[in-house]
Amino acid sequence: MPTCLWRTSFWKTGRWKINRQVRVALISALAVMMTVLHAGAQQETAPEPLTKYLGRRIAQPMSYHGIPWLNRPERLQEENPQEMLEQLKVEPNMTVCDMGCGDGYYTVELARRVGPEGKVLAVDIQPEMLQELSRRCERLDIKNVDMVLGLPHDPKLPDGKVDLILMVDVYHEFSNPVEMLDAMRRSLKPGGRIALVEFRGEDPTVPIKPEHKMTKKQILKEYKANGFKLVSQYDKLPWQHLMFLSPGTESE
Ligand SMILES: C[S@@+](CC[C@H](N)C(=O)[O-])C[C@H]1O[C@@H](n2cnc3c(N)ncnc32)[C@H](O)[C@@H]1O
Repeated sequence: MPTCLWRTSFWKTGRWKINRQVRVALISALAVMMTVLHAGAQQETAPEPLTKYLGRRIAQPMSYHGIPWLNRPERLQEENPQEMLEQLKVEPNMTVCDMGCGDGYYTVELARRVGPEGKVLAVDIQPEMLQELSRRCERLDIKNVDMVLGLPHDPKLPDGKVDLILMVDVYHEFSNPVEMLDAMRRSLKPGGRIALVEFRGEDPTVPIKPEHKMTKKQILKEYKANGFKLVSQYDKLPWQHLMFLSPGTESE
């Protein structure tokens, strides 16, 4: 005789009593259902990744297998990191985002400049990059970096909290530039800026694959189409553009 699943004590007590195995099975089924529904909802809301945007071919994100390349000593000559960082005018107590931080080549220096009361939000879509950055911060005893695992269309930044977003060699990899620019715009404080660093697309002597470079013209086309204006620029880096962009239009 099988165990009675639904005890008929209802008629005596006015309450349903359900066998423990059934309770466990029901709860598990509910949990599975919720997970499936949640995953479905996420898939529905995730926009299609693009391969082209406003006439530009979007590059594939650089895999974490390329970490040694990100730390190549030649970067010092090719990028002049100290000079680039000086132009950012990072000050103590600021909240700065290192968008597409990789394993943190620039994050640690930003963390030093914002000081113990400031914060760096280090965003990447590859957990392996953030793990490496985490090890780097531990090694150097840096405590003011928050790791943020973003999605290709959502950097998971808080609204209205960020003074500066630095993107070094990252923007051209965004598969969803419109959503990313929208989210970054919302994350900025009034007066907040994006510092965009990209290898110069109009310079054939810069030995980087074409889809990993951008021209100023293309940068402005994409940023203006998404509610940003050029605030200033620095043209003296060896291979890269450094452009500062803020929410707004030229006429403001
Ligand atoms: C070429 S690496 C540059 C890393 C770092 N900025 C540096 O200069 O060493 C580009 C990084 O951007 C990240 N990335 C690509 N798309 C992204 C997105 N939508 N949100 C955040 N990070 C992204 C990649 O995972 C990769 O770590």
